[in-house]
Amino acid sequence: MSRVFQERLKVIACTKLSESYFRITFASRRIPAHALGGQFVQVKVSDSAQPLLRRPFGVHRVGKNTFDCLCEIVGEATRILSEKKPGDFVDVIGPLGNGFDYGPRTKDQGPRILVAGGMGVAPLFFLAEKIAERRTPNAERKIIVFIGAKSKKDLLCEKDFKQLGCEVKVATDDGSKGLRGRVTDLLEQYLRRTPNAERRSRIYACGPKPMLKQVSLLSKHYNLPAQISLEEHMACGIGACLGCVVKVRAQNASRRTPFAYKRVCKDGPVFSASEIIW
Ligand SMILES: Cc1cc2nc3c(=O)[nH]c(=O)nc-3n(C[C@H](O)[C@H](O)[C@H](O)COP(=O)(O)OP(=O)(O)OC[C@H]3O[C@@H](n4cnc5c(N)ncnc54)[C@H](O)[C@@H]3O)c2cc1C
Ligand code: FES
Repeated sequence: MSRVFQERLKVIACTKLSESYFRITFASRRIPAHALGGQFVQVKVSDSAQPLLRRPFGVHRVGKNTFDCLCEIVGEATRILSEKKPGDFVDVIGPLGNGFDYGPRTKDQGPRILVAGGMGVAPLFFLAEKIAERRTPNAERKIIVFIGAKSKKDLLCEKDFKQLGCEVKVATDDGSKGLRGRVTDLLEQYLRRTPNAERRSRIYACGPKPMLKQVSLLSKHYNLPAQISLEEHMACGIGACLGCVVKVRAQNASRRTPFAYKRVCKDGPVFSASEIIW
């Protein structure tokens, strides 16, 4: 298990990307050095009593002694965070939770398939960087990224993924870019058209629950291992309050207890898709 730190971090930059999205960069030595793709931080956005609870954000990108979160303004806490200025200080706990398993470095691996819905791009970009870092000359690995967004203006990180050498496929609800429809339609098209041998792969997904459920069904149908990162409302973020539990298949299932509960913050947010009961 990775180490967790509570730090008062200096904001280095807070960049508005559009009306609804921003990227915030924190100075930290320890969080970027220890974070794994898929882990998150709990941010106390204000020193005042409100909002009382910390808010979870995935680690989006790490630099030398810095890390970024990529955020959507949806309510009070994200609005307050979006208004931070360079030099402000924010209390942050992290890195938290279990990250993605990057898989072996061996040559005999198909492409890595990343499926992002909405803000799911935030942790998946960091994962893509980690997978790309692990490429070796004799284990050249293709990374295919499927991004789904409401509209072209909500499409984030397409260029960043491409710069990393990923192949990017896009779907938007309104058809303003890429396929008109759901990102899982795009994924299904790809899996249907790709021969078995090339498909030998792993799927990593982060996004809204209906999308993750569909990714899980597809991974089962095509017999591909999939890891999914769940988002639940969180209170403590450290496994103490049981406010974020999800139903999973019990490991030693009996007829009386075919299921169990796991905490998204502590046992996740990354789970094996086959584990979750939808
Ligand atoms: C592990 C994890 C990682 C996350 N990573 C990111 C990230 O990288 N970037 C990002 O923008 N957001 C991320 N989120 C979601 C983010 O935490 C919420 O958007 C934020 O807490 C909202 O706070 P708020 O006060 O602005 O809005 P609130 O007033 O608390 O909520 C506004 C609306 O958003 C919904 N909402 C709030 N939190 C969640 C949640 N956890 N899951 C589903 N719906 C929610 C509420 O139901 C409400 O409709 C993550 C959540 C989790 C659990
Ligand atoms: S948020 Fe408290 S146990 Fe997960």
